[in-house]
Amino acid sequence: MKKTRIIMAALFALTGAAQAQDAGQINVICSVQAEWCNLMQTVYSRTTGVKVNMSLKGSGEALAQLIAERANPKTDVWFGGTGDPHLQAAEQDLTLEYKSASLPQLHAWAQQQATQSKFRTVGIYSGPLGFGYNPELLAKKKLPVPKTWSDLLKPEYKGEIQVANPASSGTAYTMVATLVQLMGEDKAFDYMKKLHRNISQYTRSGTAPIKAVARGETSVSISFVHDGPGEKMQGFPVETITPSDGTGAEIGSMSLIKGARNLEAAKKFYEWALTASAQEMGAAAKQFQLPSNKSAKVDPRVPDFKKIKFIDYDYAKYGSSAERRRLIGRWEKDVNSLPR
Ligand code: F6P
Repeated sequence: MKKTRIIMAALFALTGAAQAQDAGQINVICSVQAEWCNLMQTVYSRTTGVKVNMSLKGSGEALAQLIAERANPKTDVWFGGTGDPHLQAAEQDLTLEYKSASLPQLHAWAQQQATQSKFRTVGIYSGPLGFGYNPELLAKKKLPVPKTWSDLLKPEYKGEIQVANPASSGTAYTMVATLVQLMGEDKAFDYMKKLHRNISQYTRSGTAPIKAVARGETSVSISFVHDGPGEKMQGFPVETITPSDGTGAEIGSMSLIKGARNLEAAKKFYEWALTASAQEMGAAAKQFQLPSNKSAKVDPRVPDFKKIKFIDYDYAKYGSSAERRRLIGRWEKDVNSLPR
């Protein structure tokens, strides 16, 4: 029922858009989970007649594709994924400057993402980094719920933790950048070397570890905590917690691609994606990031930011290409190459 209401509201928001069939097409890279991408694709296509070709890619992979396509871009809009690679795309001149008239309707953090990139990207949602855990598996193995970053280093968690690979996943890059800001760089790398002993697998996608936790394949994950409730709604035993010693958050972003072949149609999609009703589709698709449009309804399952201890995340510094390349390079060399 709720989903139907949200779709109806989104349809209503689209009444100004063209209703004609075969009104062109757009190519979108979508870096949120499939259900949300598919919902947007269906609603937007049905209501505008614009065909939406969606390609699902993690944040790091999306950036790599845009770099590879630079001379001959095949993408018009990049929707979702952590903000750091969107800032890198802006810096590398892969995305287009575009100042939406809707910017004042967005939260300050979403507008800051736009100003920081000289209007080449914009915040569409935010979400905190934390841990996912399977309470049943932890109880069975007599393991405590980890509450701090240092808890994850305890020998009893050996082989029990999954996180993604920061080269392909924005979630994992957010972890690297968060730890560096929380501990200082050398201490953060010492920490990640020790953590490496307890990691069973570095996954390609940032959401894979919490799905593995939910399905009882591993006890603990390092994940965005907004990815927990959707798994729980499917009946899986999964809970989330944010480390009491402080954590970072992503500013999920959206960008228009420089050289987009379907620019006018892409701008209309972009404007629609900033509306409150379009953003409410996230929760309708069981994804619980905080929407950037101040008027969007906030589902009670969205993490309560006021209860979380956040670091003062430096989005400009950790969104710079040189810093990301350097940190991922150091992670590959100092951490990922070590035996487990
Ligand atoms: O779609 C869920 C999500 O956690 C988003 O909030 C985030 O932007 C994205 O996944 C990151 O995915 P990845 O870590 O695979 O780049």
